[in-house]
Amino acid sequence: MSISPQLIHKYNVAGPRYTSYPTVPYWQEADFSVAPYLETVARTFNATNARDGISLYIHLPYCESLCTFCACNHRITKKHEVEAGYIAAVLKEWRMYVDLLAQSSNERIKIREIHLGGGTPTFFAPEKLTDLINGLFEFAERADHHEFSFEGHPNNTTEAHLQTLYDLGFRRVSFGVQDYDAKVQKAINRIQPYENVARVTETARAIGYTSISHDLVFGLPHQNLDTMRHTIATTARLAPDRLAFYSYAHVPWIKGNGQRGFNDEDLPSGPEKRALYELGKEMFDELGYVEVGMDHFARPNDTLYQAMNEGRLHRNFMGYTETNTRLMLSLGVSSISDSWYAFAQNEKVLENYLARVGANELPLTRGHLLTAEDLIIRQHILNIMCRMHTDWSDPAMQFAQLPQAVELLKPMQDDGLLEILPNGLKVTEQGRPFVRNIAMAFDVRLWAKQPETRLFSMTI
Ligand SMILES: C[S@@+](CC[C@H](N)C(=O)[O-])C[C@H]1O[C@@H](n2cnc3c(N)ncnc32)[C@H](O)[C@@H]1O
Ligand code: SF4
Repeated sequence: MSISPQLIHKYNVAGPRYTSYPTVPYWQEADFSVAPYLETVARTFNATNARDGISLYIHLPYCESLCTFCACNHRITKKHEVEAGYIAAVLKEWRMYVDLLAQSSNERIKIREIHLGGGTPTFFAPEKLTDLINGLFEFAERADHHEFSFEGHPNNTTEAHLQTLYDLGFRRVSFGVQDYDAKVQKAINRIQPYENVARVTETARAIGYTSISHDLVFGLPHQNLDTMRHTIATTARLAPDRLAFYSYAHVPWIKGNGQRGFNDEDLPSGPEKRALYELGKEMFDELGYVEVGMDHFARPNDTLYQAMNEGRLHRNFMGYTETNTRLMLSLGVSSISDSWYAFAQNEKVLENYLARVGANELPLTRGHLLTAEDLIIRQHILNIMCRMHTDWSDPAMQFAQLPQAVELLKPMQDDGLLEILPNGLKVTEQGRPFVRNIAMAFDVRLWAKQPETRLFSMTI
């Protein structure tokens, strides 16, 4: 279904991606302190570990070379001697949480989900990754249905990486592909031949990985409908189980000089970018992929799609997940933990992170303790992002500004993006690309104070 340029124009505003609510710029940092955060960690652990287990996100920041479009927290180096010290710091940080949890409970920690993100996890040698995972399990056990995943760079993922992580229980891998066009690859400083992606994908499949995902990005410099068609057709040859189709987040004000190597004029305009998304969606549809939430496509037999249909999809700082754990501890530089009642972020500068852990301190730098109203709104936003509907018939799901939120939804209903129900809303097929805009209607913190500077990427 093609979307009118008027709608794109109207709804293409700066907006959050809602991997959390409240979104990071709206955290009440002044009200945050470590002790109440740790109390919420212990509380959620005690309430959910036995049933659900916990999730761990581990940020591995190093990359060998800079991709100029990248918005992730990364550190560029070719010096692999940094690996051991970094893994030791992460394990030391883990030990601090282990000791904390041991004080409040006799239960052994059950790890349900591990995600190794980056930067580039495959920057690290397989032996170092083994040390990391074994170090985690010195103080924890594997939950029965665990899901371990990692991000691999096709240019440096080896068969040994894939085999080692498989042997440690990893069954999911996502490879950063981005784009196959030579001019686009040059502009983003990421020369990555098809052969590299084919090699890692086929090797992962032969080893037994059950979910192989490719990350593609639309809106990159020099992309047009022809290059996008070529990229998707090339991707189809390898038939990944899932696809992430990210909207390029142009955030040079955050990344400083990182995002360069191209000029603003090289970027597709708003309507051109939207057309790239629509072409992708149409081609994925023809190839048998269905859209799951925002940014993600999966084959109907994929568990992410099944989770969406069964209402089990969840969204957190890792993006969409089917593992609906309430406690996500995040280790490593810049990573953000989520205890359901609080968020807490680690030091964003690598040296500060290492120094704080070295001094036996939890390396937290800021966070937010959720209010009762935050918790209600967070649930509505999760419902919209993960289930495409939400409901406030239960008084426990109502909040003071709900009538104003409904007023904000009305023009979107007139534009066919959603249907307002007697006590809820349902996103229409046409409204799916606009879920961020719909979620914004509930974001009372955003209405109360528009950001003074640009903090978010555009919604389309
Ligand atoms: C940490 S990287 C993946 C692992 C590995 N570093 C690699 O590049 O292959 C995670 C993904 O985030 C996406 N990404 C990074 N910067 C982005 C941006 N500015 N806008 C949209 N997506 C972005 C890319 O698709 C990338 O593959
Ligand atoms: S896209 Fe991946 S490899 Fe490139 S700089 Fe970002 S994290 Fe590193």
